[in-house]
This record gives sequence, C-alpha cells and structure tokens, in this order.
Amino acid sequence: MITEIGQDIDRAAALLGHGKLVAIPTETVYGLAANALNNEAVINIYEVKGRPRFNPLIIHVASIDAAARYVTEIPSAIKNLATQFSPGPLSYLLPKSSLVPNLVTAGSDKVVVRIPAHPMTIELLERLDFPLAAPSANPSGYVSPVTASHVREGLDGKIPYILDGGKSSVGLESTIVGMEADEVVIYRLGGITAEDIFKLTGITPRFSLLHEKPDTPGQLKSHYAPSKPLIVGDVHALMSIHHGKKIATISLTSFYSTAYLNEVLSPSGNLHEAAAKLFTAIRELDNSDADIIVAEIFPNEGIGAAINDRLGRAGQ
Ligand code: TXA
Ligand code: MG
Repeated sequence: MITEIGQDIDRAAALLGHGKLVAIPTETVYGLAANALNNEAVINIYEVKGRPRFNPLIIHVASIDAAARYVTEIPSAIKNLATQFSPGPLSYLLPKSSLVPNLVTAGSDKVVVRIPAHPMTIELLERLDFPLAAPSANPSGYVSPVTASHVREGLDGKIPYILDGGKSSVGLESTIVGMEADEVVIYRLGGITAEDIFKLTGITPRFSLLHEKPDTPGQLKSHYAPSKPLIVGDVHALMSIHHGKKIATISLTSFYSTAYLNEVLSPSGNLHEAAAKLFTAIRELDNSDADIIVAEIFPNEGIGAAINDRLGRAGQ
C-alpha cells in the first residue's frame, strides 16, 4: 500500500466511509482514525498500531452536541468544562451509550470523547455521519507524531492516506477528565492544565493518573519511549556519569556546551512553546548519532507537569 500525504478532506472522508484508516491532524498530536462504529475498521487500528486490544480508543466528534448520542449522560460539571475548553485539548471519560462498540472501549462501560480544535478535522467530522476512533498515529509505545511526516515515519505503507494539517500546535496529547461522585478527576495530564481548569471554571480537579495505577489496562508506564536510552534528572550530574559518550540534552533554556547535541525547547522559558517542540526534539535526537539522551526536569507547573509526565514515561 502506498501512503499518500495530502490536504484533500473529501478523499479522507471517502476512505473513512469505506472503513479505511486515515491519519488526521489535531492540535494535540496526529490521530490514526477509523469509523468508530465499524468493528472491522476499529480492529485495523489496533493491528496497524500494534496496540494491545485491552487499551481503549478515544472517539472524536465535531461538537459536544454530537457527543450526546454516544454517552448516556453529560454531567453539568463536564458541560461546564466543555463550554470552556471544547473544541480543544480536553477529553471526557463518560458512560458510553450502546452505539459505541465494546471494541472501542476495550470492554469498559465508559468511553473517552474529544472534540479536536483543528479546522480540517472539524470539517471532516462534520461531513461524516459517524464518530472517529483515533489513538495517536504512532506505532504502539513510540513517541506521538506532531507532523504528517512523523506519521509516515512510523506507519508508511500501512495506511492509505495522511491528511496533512501542518504541525500540531499544542504538541502533547489531550488531558483526560471524568467524574467520580461529584468530583472532577484528571486521569491523564495534557494540553489543558489543572490551573487552566481552575481559572476558567473554579473547579479544583483531583488527580488520579491512570498510568500510576498498576491494575489499569492500557496505561503502561513506558509509553513514549525512543529507541535510545533517555534519562531524566540533573543534566550536569548525568553528563559526568556518562562521560565519554555522545550525549544529547533536552532542556528548557540551558545550553550545555559540553554536550554533543542540545535541544533547547524555549530560550525564553515558555512552557507551552517547549511542549509544542518536545516530541519533535525527542524524535530528532533519537534519529541522530548521539548515544544517549539526557533531559532536564522541567518546572512542574502548568503544562510543565505534562512535559515531565511524558519525559518520565519516555525514560527507560
Ligand atoms: O490528544 C489526544 O487525546 C490524541 C488525539 C489523536 O486526539 N489521542 C490520544 O489517544 O492520545 P491515545 O489512544 O494515544 O491515548 C488515549 C488514552 C490511552 O492511554 C487509553 O488507555 C485511554 O486514553 N483511554 C481511552 N479510552 C479509555 C477508557 N474508556 N477508559 C480508560 N482509559 C481510556
Ligand atoms: Mg498514544
């Protein structure tokens, strides 16, 4: 199969309508999309990604109104969040309706729903009469793609079409929230921060990060791993421990003059800029001839917490 890259929304819609897979741009990362209501198409997502079937998929819809058919209820706190943050990098774990196949949710009675903020993908979703199941468009376990060419690097020859919407502006996956009793709970850190949620809604979410619970299927700790060793910590100390190796560093603002390669993610110290560049930096260093990647611990505030989460899980 030849994998084409293009900007043809009609073509993407036609392929998806025929049960094929299409990689789609979103503001977080690229997704590997299929008709969520078509079991065969969904099976193909698991196969192409090499993803274990116990790891459920997010469904994507054009609006919160369009989401209503696929869930049994939208609690008022979630409606409030959706008003503020959707379309955008926030996803909602909600009780699923019978329209959503068990294969999508890996047997769970809850489904994660997201409304992506990318104009091409919103237009695509508006043309379709089904939601799109779409995990990140990388082989399972590798770094998520933020450009069409990243998708091709991982999935060339396995899917017919990549809808090219440019570079993902947020660069980290969506934050996943849900409700437990009357509390809003954050299950995955991502593009929307707890601080953002508090500022816009007055809600103080509780954290219950799924990958920190050993019994949660699909939330494997190591998830974003490059093929080179990646170690997170004090860069100077790690450089002296690994003296003699070609060391590549990932930092917010610091340039390490004795390192072999440096990826300074935001010289001005902007964590959103750093988040947007993180996955590209990890890929570039992984494709370089450095021996080892050493990353700083980022300031653990705002989206910095999500950066640290991804670096921690990329580490071996
Ligand atoms: O930003 C994003 O969310 C991107 C773009 C493409 O929308 N998608 C994404 O999907 O990151 P994925 O599959 O790579 O990550 C979804 C995470 C997985 O860790 C999965 O285990 C969890 O969400 N998840 C999905 N449905 C779930 C469910 N019903 N219950 C618990 N966890 C769920
Ligand atoms: Mg993923």
